[in-house]
Amino acid sequence: MTTFVTPRVFPAMRLRRTRADDFSRRLVREHLLSVSDLILPVFVLDGKNRREPVASMPGVERLSIDQLLMEAERWLELGIPLIDLFPYIEPAQKSLDGGEAWNPDGLIPRAVRALRERLPELGVMTDVALDPYTVHGQDGIIDDTGYVQNDITVEALVKQALVHAEAGAQIVSPSDMMDGRIGAIRQALEAAGKVNTRIMAYSAKYASRYYGPFRDAVGSAAHLGKSDKFSYQMDPANSDEALHEVAADLAEGADMVMVKPGMPYLDVLCRVKQTFRVPTFVYQVSGEYAMHMAAIEKGWLPEAVLLEALLAFKRAGADGILTYFAVRAAELLRDDR
Ligand code: PBG
Repeated sequence: MTTFVTPRVFPAMRLRRTRADDFSRRLVREHLLSVSDLILPVFVLDGKNRREPVASMPGVERLSIDQLLMEAERWLELGIPLIDLFPYIEPAQKSLDGGEAWNPDGLIPRAVRALRERLPELGVMTDVALDPYTVHGQDGIIDDTGYVQNDITVEALVKQALVHAEAGAQIVSPSDMMDGRIGAIRQALEAAGKVNTRIMAYSAKYASRYYGPFRDAVGSAAHLGKSDKFSYQMDPANSDEALHEVAADLAEGADMVMVKPGMPYLDVLCRVKQTFRVPTFVYQVSGEYAMHMAAIEKGWLPEAVLLEALLAFKRAGADGILTYFAVRAAELLRDDR
């Protein structure tokens, strides 16, 4: 509980005093954004020497593994602790069950092995979900009616997570919202001797309209068409339910939990951190990035607005932030001091 002293009043109380100089503003500052808070999501594609811009995400490119290795060296130098890998899968490799997701020689396992070998100090996280790999763009295996079936999807996710862990990913991050997947993945990791593979659970992931540019980036938008993910991702109207999701994921063995999207769900982030006091992460999603970039490119907002948006997550209780601005933010933070 916050306690307040008996209020003094003007002129004894001048709240502007501590704001008068830079040194004193720094001294009383409550929250700091640091490069150690930043997680960079990256899009990987097959081939050599390939870089493909994502139209709805200015400044973001899909990278082939050789290009990824080059860039990652710079990210490590900037001090970014962790990157999160998402694949762009060629349409010919997609299937009904998304089987390419657990191919040990698939794009993501190859990218993980290359990164771990070349840059062992850089943290590598992988996304566990089937949507880039399925012909229908859903995060799981569907029945005749298009309904995503929970339990057989969990079995597929376990196989995918194991393949990522075996390739060397230090963190696996299930983004699918199936019930029970954290427990199943945790058990399988333990059985495989992967006792230190961390799980960052997308615990409170909402069925959001802010994911559009991401679906362009991984190439699932066209496959998904007009169908939606309301039968597994959370209703934007709910926040008590987010606490239930987090409690379940923690009980099942998650090391870190996440709220997603970010800025429209700061209240949820705050409640989760205040309630559980565990490592809590937030995803500033593709639509938030696109919105900010559109305004920055038009000159309607200054670029530094991105630091304010990221700081808001720290203030609300985030221990770390997944953001497509990670590299730019790291540069701005470095030049700031
Ligand atoms: C799907 C997934 C999505 C994102 C991360 N993993 C999109 C979705 O659920 O359709 C969104 C990320 C973003 O918008 O930046 N497993």
